[in-house]
Amino acid sequence: ASPRIVVTREIPQAALDLLREVGDVWWPQPDRALSPSELHEVVACADAVVSTLQDRIDAAFADAAGPSLRVVSTVAVGYDNIDVPALTSRGIVVTNTPGVLTDATADLAFGLLLAVTRRLGEGERLLRSRTPWSFHLGFMLGSGLQGKTLGIVGLGQIGRAMARRALAFGMDIRYSGRRRADEAIERELGATYLPFEELLSSSDVVSLHCPLTASTHHLIDADALARMKPSAYLINTTRGPVVDESALAKALADGAIAGAGLDVFENEPEVHPDLLELDNVALAPHLGSATVETRTAMATLAARNAVAVLSGEQPPTPVRG
Ligand code: GLV
Ligand code: GLV
Repeated sequence: ASPRIVVTREIPQAALDLLREVGDVWWPQPDRALSPSELHEVVACADAVVSTLQDRIDAAFADAAGPSLRVVSTVAVGYDNIDVPALTSRGIVVTNTPGVLTDATADLAFGLLLAVTRRLGEGERLLRSRTPWSFHLGFMLGSGLQGKTLGIVGLGQIGRAMARRALAFGMDIRYSGRRRADEAIERELGATYLPFEELLSSSDVVSLHCPLTASTHHLIDADALARMKPSAYLINTTRGPVVDESALAKALADGAIAGAGLDVFENEPEVHPDLLELDNVALAPHLGSATVETRTAMATLAARNAVAVLSGEQPPTPVRG
């Protein structure tokens, strides 16, 4: 029989076409988020599942799919929603989509940095509220980036792409992470490795590019925020739970830090109500990889991963579990 492929959210046609060449493809039509129980129902007897970061992929999911399941291919670089050991111990291959969303995500992170330091959202809200205004020399002053230091937490592909953008804006780069980057990378970026706490206390902007894991959950908590300069900004485009959102809202309200740019939230799609009241935070609804080009590349790579496993080949980008 032809393999049964379940796609949990609608994906671009080019990716569906690749999957259709090797199996029978099911996806929700019209497109909608499947509830956990619906997800468990639709994956029964699937050979391959193409999933998104909203799906909880754990032992119960694997049990619901049954022994036919050979591959879970997530259309995302982050896979904190997947219990990788629970799957690999059952012989199920897990794949993700690194690389293809690096530039789009770094662009968005830099966009949020500009938005918060130059008060773009605040300015737009002012105009849309039809409040009278006029140009004057002290009007809505922001903070310049040139000569400032960017502290990157996690110098992976996206962290490095963020660093390159910041270099072009005249910023100095430092970073922290589980391990030091290669010397060649440090040299290219002029990046200095610092212990995390020193990075926090010495950076004008802290940008998070580490994955969400047990050890990065609430990495930015009240303590970490207290170490940052009152003039510093925090940018988060990785996963919401890396930041203690209530502690951040309090730090922003108290002036403990100057501002934040957030693309991800602790309880997505909820946004902490206090953040919505603050002018010194730029908000985006998880748009890091949201370009036509990038989403097509992500879905196509995810499809190629699934097709490879179904064909008994090495997938291009497996998650090493
Ligand atoms: C998006 O957030 C991703 O992990 O690809
Ligand atoms: C993403 O591809 C990363 O390694 O940061």
